[in-house]
Amino acid sequence: MKTYEDLAGDGGSNIVEQVQNLGVKLRSRLDKIKYKICLMSGKGGVGKSSVTANIAACLVDKGYTVGILDADLNGPSIAHLLGISPDDKLVIDESGIQPGNGVHGIRIMSMDMLLSSPDQPVMWTENAEASAVWVSTMESTALRELVADTCWGELDFLLIDMPPGSDRIDNIRGLIPELSGVVEITIPSPLSQHIVSKSITKNSKMGVPVIGLVENMASYVCPHCDKEGELFEGDDVETLSTRKGIPFIGKIPFDTRVSRKTDSGGLFYMEHQESPTGKAICTVADAILNFIK
Ligand SMILES: Nc1ncnc2c1ncn2[C@@H]1O[C@H](COP(=O)(O)OP(=O)(O)O)[C@@H](O)[C@H]1O
Ligand SMILES: [Mg+2]
Repeated sequence: MKTYEDLAGDGGSNIVEQVQNLGVKLRSRLDKIKYKICLMSGKGGVGKSSVTANIAACLVDKGYTVGILDADLNGPSIAHLLGISPDDKLVIDESGIQPGNGVHGIRIMSMDMLLSSPDQPVMWTENAEASAVWVSTMESTALRELVADTCWGELDFLLIDMPPGSDRIDNIRGLIPELSGVVEITIPSPLSQHIVSKSITKNSKMGVPVIGLVENMASYVCPHCDKEGELFEGDDVETLSTRKGIPFIGKIPFDTRVSRKTDSGGLFYMEHQESPTGKAICTVADAILNFIK
């Protein structure tokens, strides 16, 4: 095996030009998108994808054009949430991959749309011995190709539904350096707040523009008696945002209808805008709009 010392120059790979060309391609794919917003949390299962999908619906309702990049390659859920059927075939032409058309005209690119069957997991390698570094390199490469090959066209917003893990922002920033801002999402549980707190620290150290912190599943409203109760015990999430010096931009109650697929294949927000949860989603969308003004 050759080492770096054995290579003269770039070893004939023309690596500098390759990287420059990729940079040009990435920029040209994204240059007709006005605002790129990441929705993230160090923690999984806190509602990143559901909140992203419903904020997209709210922005569409306000007259904006919106796309969602499902950056969670191992647990993709955006295609499912936005009514893309596993039978919908991707259109690939000489210009690249056309994003899928989700409900309410939301454009989508997700790993799910590239898998041959709905229950197929993403297998980065058949080799059980493959190192974590190798698997993570393949994952980064796959995400870079999704970004570099998708023809988003003109959009007001590209929302990026992030995977769990505070380190994932490095990868996205490498691909999309001109991020407009990041929304952090947590649930009230102490564990979630502990993990999200690390993600906020990381973003501030990296100079990522933070729009604010959202508390999801903040409370539970009983559909029978309308009584409001707590779902998770924990410190007030607003206290976390004050401690971290970032704005607190919304408190979204738990509503069982968020996870129910409606008959019309629509999204929760479009059908329940006037519910406490619908109004809270709109408050978060308004905070994003105020931030980019
Ligand atoms: N405000 C909410 N009310 C009710 N259920 C919710 C709410 N937010 C998320 N959920 C549900 O919680 C589960 C996890 O949400 P998801 O969006 O997949 O989280 P993540 O993307 O952070 O892993 C899903 O079943 C989703 O429907
Ligand atoms: Mg998700």
